[in-house]
Formats: sequence, structure tokens, C-alpha cells
Amino acid sequence: MNEVRVFAPASVANVAVGFDILGFAIHGPGDEVVARFVDQKGLSIKTITGVGEKKLPLEVEKNTAGYSALKLLEELQETDRGIELEIHKKMPFGSGLGSSAASAVGGAFAVNELLGAPLDKKALLPFAVLGEQIADGAYHADNVAPSLLGGLTLIRSNEELDVHSIALPQELYASVVYPYVEILTKDARDVLSDQVSLTQCIKQCGNLAGLLIGLQNEDFGLISRSLNDVIIEPQRSKLIPHFAKVKEIAIKKGALGYSISGAGPSVFALSRGEETAKIVGKSMQQVFINAGINADLFVSPINKDGATRL
Ligand code: HSE
Repeated sequence: MNEVRVFAPASVANVAVGFDILGFAIHGPGDEVVARFVDQKGLSIKTITGVGEKKLPLEVEKNTAGYSALKLLEELQETDRGIELEIHKKMPFGSGLGSSAASAVGGAFAVNELLGAPLDKKALLPFAVLGEQIADGAYHADNVAPSLLGGLTLIRSNEELDVHSIALPQELYASVVYPYVEILTKDARDVLSDQVSLTQCIKQCGNLAGLLIGLQNEDFGLISRSLNDVIIEPQRSKLIPHFAKVKEIAIKKGALGYSISGAGPSVFALSRGEETAKIVGKSMQQVFINAGINADLFVSPINKDGATRL
């Protein structure tokens, strides 16, 4: 085998109440990465196509896919192997949908597959997190873990990469809307205060625990009551035009909850059943369009596969 092609899906990080520690993968948008053996020694990136191609560096050490693949090759002591990557971006860039994480996952996963899968999927996580870190400077796995492993993942500790898959109701659907406005993750992190009051902490802990129990027990009422971020959303929502109006319509149309996807500008709602998710998503998208802001809509069940070989 001389070549492999893989897909790493987009993901929704934070999921309202789990800043930096919760995320789920969706179907549809994502990155394809091709890895192949070549004669010239070392790792190189041959080409980047798709959204953001002109903004993304071809230098291995500066590229999230390249860096995660390089770190894996170093661990495996395979840096002399001649390997080139192609990165095909099939998702919006700078959208809050985990674009850099999908590339980082794709890089490590593709190279591991090309080498005959010496490591299992979960063991690739540290390399993918290091790859994503060069995009925003922070070390967190809430996009990388779901993009790699699929499902909804809880990261008990980012330092230890103590990552767990959370049980999910089959009927759970996400409506994700990407409005065409630019928010850099670094800027969205810089607006956050590092102080949290005890009252906020108690409320957020209750909601996080409630969400996880609600998902496990398929208790949609509890899920809905728990999807309420009292720490991050109040600080970041001002960066997203029409945030409150989109939230109001999502809830009115039957969503269980609504918040910012990752660092934004994308927003997401969770609903019970595909029909409701479609109605909710279209209504959310329409608010942006009516305000003269172009917006993409993705309606998807939670993607349980994560990164896959094509
Ligand atoms: N948890 C991260 C954040 C996700 O909200 O900043 C985006 O990288």
C-alpha cells in the first residue's frame, strides 16, 4: 500500500456547559487528508485545497496536519521515511467548527494508517492535540477528541488527556449554523475573564452534571434544563451578531438548547429528532440571512465514527 485517504469530521466544542472539556463530532463537513510514500526523505505537504487554502502554511512545522503527523513520526522514530501529505479542506475555516482540529486529526490518522496502524486511534490523541495547539496556542482536546474518536467526548483533564465517550440518545440531532463573520479563536479566548464566581461555578457544575446524566438516561427535559452556559456565553455572545435573536427562535421552534459552537462564530442547537432539528436550523439560518449575513446550515445526528479511512 502506497497511499491512504482519510476523513476527519467537523466538531462542536464546549457544548454550552463544558468549556474546553466537551465536544461532539457531526456528519458532513470535515477534512480529507491523503498520505503517500515518496522517494524524497522526510515529511512534506504537497498541496492544500479548498476553503482557507491560501491562508494555510505548507511548512510542516507550521501546519496543524503536518505538525501532528511529524510528532507521530518522531514518536515512532520514522522521520527518515519519505511521506507527503495532501490536505483537502471540506469545511469552513475559522468557523468554530474545529477546522484546525480536523486537519490535525487527519494528519496523524493518515500517517498512522499509511504505516499500517502501529498505534490505536486513542493513542493518536496527544499528537493531534499538539497539532491543533499551533493554531491557537492553547492545549485542549475538545475538538480533536470527538473528531478523532467520534461521539460526544468528555475530557476530564486536558493535561492528562483523560478522555471519555459519553452515552447518547439516538434521537439527538444538532443544527449548526455558520454565519459568514470572522472571529479568531485567539481573540475569542482573549475576551474571557479568568475569574469565575462561586455562584457561577455551582450553576455550571450542576448543568454539566445534569447534561451528562440527562444524555445517559435519555431524559430530554433534564438535557434541556442543563444546556445553559452561565460563564462563557455571556462573555462571548456579543462577538456574534444577532446571537440573542437566533437563540430565541431556536428555543421557540423546539430546540432543547442553544449556544456557541466552540469559539464561534458558528452557533448550534440540540433537538430531539431530525424533523425538529431541520425546522430549528432553518429558522436560525434565516435570522442571519434576513440580516444580510450569509450563513451555512448543517443538520446532523452526532457522528459516532470520528476519523475514518476512505
Ligand atoms: N474550547 C475552545 C474555545 C474551542 O472555546 O476556545 C475552540 O478552539
